[in-house]
Amino acid sequence: MSSAPALASGGGVLPRHVAIIMDGNGRWAKKRFLPRVAGHRAGVEAVRAVSRAARAMGIEALTLYAFSSENWRRPEEEVGDLMGLLRLFIRSDLAELVRENVRLRVIGDFRRFPGDVVALIEDALARTAANTGPVLVIALNYGGQAELTEAARRLAARAAAGEIDPASIAPATIEAELETRDLPPLDLLIRTSGEHRLSNFLLWQAAYAELLFVDTLWPDFGAAELEAAVADFGRRQRRFGGL
Ligand code: IPE
Ligand code: IPE
Ligand code: MG
Repeated sequence: MSSAPALASGGGVLPRHVAIIMDGNGRWAKKRFLPRVAGHRAGVEAVRAVSRAARAMGIEALTLYAFSSENWRRPEEEVGDLMGLLRLFIRSDLAELVRENVRLRVIGDFRRFPGDVVALIEDALARTAANTGPVLVIALNYGGQAELTEAARRLAARAAAGEIDPASIAPATIEAELETRDLPPLDLLIRTSGEHRLSNFLLWQAAYAELLFVDTLWPDFGAAELEAAVADFGRRQRRFGGL
């Protein structure tokens, strides 16, 4: 299914699919004595810069963790600010995505967002659906455990209905139920801000991804940091259990 990986400009192998846990907006703002929302605003600028850089580098798929299924635990005001920024981002950047032949995708249960945001997202998905270029995946109200639970539920229902034999369920069967099923395998997973955890992101998909934890706070992460991450990836030796 997968063609040979491309070579990055530095000579290393280019990851086909990069995912980023964009963390540290709040701390970025705090360091500047600004409200947390200012950090999120600066984070949107970083999204723009990094998605442009990923396209320029020839990365096929970029998945960005923008709102986790656990982020509802934040104060209502902050959740509202994040929804507001999402509205702004779609309104201001959709034209560029359409023009640049980017296919926008969303993973996660975004239909739990406010109705007007859901409508904006659905319109953006529809307007880029026929594009054939790189994929920009935004994880919205996404949780890896919920994704796997949903997959288990669907397979159990099909088994109960006699449509599939439980003994036939293989990793590929589960993979085909995941929201990432039509994306290239995850090669590189980056988390910014110095935290060393997955926070429920792409649990299944991370099985053999290369992990990179950087101290840079998300608003300070740009094209140069992405290039450095890709160069680091190019120097890794992936074994997948072999020698
Ligand atoms: C990441 O930055 C953005 C979201 C989770 C939406 P944070 O808001 O988590 O920033 P810190 O971790 O508090 O610095
Ligand atoms: C993970 O960051 C979620 C996103 C980046 C959207 P959090 O800041 O929510 O993660 P925890 O709470 O530190 O694990
Ligand atoms: Mg955080």
